[in-house]
Amino acid sequence: MSVDEYRRKYAYGEDYGTSHFKFGPVAEKPHVIENRGLFLGGESKVLLKLFGVDREVIVGPEIVRYLGSIEDVSRHLIYPMRDGVVAKDDERAWRVLYELTKYGFSLTKPDASDFQGFYVTAALSAVAPDYMIEKLFEIHARIDGEMNVVKAFTVIPQPLAVAIAEKTITCVVVESGHGNTQITPISMYPIRDAAVVLNRGGAEADAMAAEVLRDLGHEDLAREEKFVRMFKEAVGLVPRSLDEAIEAAKREPERFRTVFKVPGTRIEVDLGERAWMRFLIGEVPFNPEHEIFESYYKRGMPRPRDTVVGGERVRGTMPLGEAISLSVSKTSIELQPSLYKRVILSGGNFAWKVPPGLEDVAVDSAEKVRLQLLDFGIESEVSLVEDPLYSVWKGTIVYSLAVPDEFEWDWSRREGWFKRGIHY
Ligand SMILES: Nc1ncnc2c1ncn2[C@@H]1O[C@H](COP(=O)(O)OP(=O)(O)OP(=O)(O)O)[C@@H](O)[C@H]1O
Ligand SMILES: [Mg+2]
Repeated sequence: MSVDEYRRKYAYGEDYGTSHFKFGPVAEKPHVIENRGLFLGGESKVLLKLFGVDREVIVGPEIVRYLGSIEDVSRHLIYPMRDGVVAKDDERAWRVLYELTKYGFSLTKPDASDFQGFYVTAALSAVAPDYMIEKLFEIHARIDGEMNVVKAFTVIPQPLAVAIAEKTITCVVVESGHGNTQITPISMYPIRDAAVVLNRGGAEADAMAAEVLRDLGHEDLAREEKFVRMFKEAVGLVPRSLDEAIEAAKREPERFRTVFKVPGTRIEVDLGERAWMRFLIGEVPFNPEHEIFESYYKRGMPRPRDTVVGGERVRGTMPLGEAISLSVSKTSIELQPSLYKRVILSGGNFAWKVPPGLEDVAVDSAEKVRLQLLDFGIESEVSLVEDPLYSVWKGTIVYSLAVPDEFEWDWSRREGWFKRGIHY
């Protein structure tokens, strides 16, 4: 088998998202586990031993089995990333990333006799500092030493992975996951100086959904993160125009009414007369600056924090359309029209659906962004990728297949392979 044939067989991708780690070899879809780890320190060593547990850190679906036996869950359950970044000296967080990465290989390592390790591409946030690349490099080298699974390793920015998956050279990628929203103009390579990051994502829509539950008298449910997220995804709607949508839903509450049944329980949440609040949830990712949200911020809903981009402060609440035009305005004037012709949305926070019959008031994410840009007098073509949750991972696989074997990692270009036998 030639090197290229081998690489096609054993390409592997990893997308380190704030809420989920997506990983796996060439396939239709990646494996997905939550980006978190449970530290068992402090629990009864005897009992753990009796039950055959000799690990300190648990990741993946097994975590659930231990939650009941742990007193102070929040102290033991570590979510290692914040807005796509792991702090340099946060040892517990890096330990979780090591365990997640290793879990991925343990789950997917082939038995085949020709297998000598994967060609692995990892995707990180476009704002991830270089030490994160170095740390991931160390982690993969270490795991290869333990399991013989990483023949070569490289890292690309998440927005570039999306552009690669969409086979587009010139575009603006807007990647909105749980933690943050990255806007990155791309012309062959991400234009770093023009990238704009907003400190908001699905988590902010969750916070709004929790407020809606509180208003409906379900304080207890509002505290359960997982439940809030399911509720948000099921009932949230993106309004064409928030004011008009609220008016329409107050005029005809029955048309917008929905009852959310909690799977596996008898709990039901009926939105009743408050069906108009569905639009608050869907508006947040796009325009948390709408005045209607002020009272919720006053009441304690966290306001998205500002970011500093190239020395300039960007409001965490800036409408998405405005943030896209800010980003594009930092590129050369000649390039700008072709960027607006191809605005690509990806990430779970854009997966909002439009229920049949509500098309007059609710829109999908692409239409919402197109309308927001139009508010600025900008004509654009906006599209949503086919698999918003997986397009980054898809791009990592394509990249693993495309980078020639002899390209070695180069820090100035930030591309090429870290290789067994050469770098570790
Ligand atoms: N159908 C849906 N409607 C609305 N939101 C959705 C839908 N499906 C998923 N989401 C939201 O998408 C978010 C997860 O997206 P994604 O997996 O892209 O994030 P991530 O990669 O883990 O985080 P990040 O990219 O910020 O580091 C969650 O907030 C989730 O609730
Ligand atoms: Mg992501």
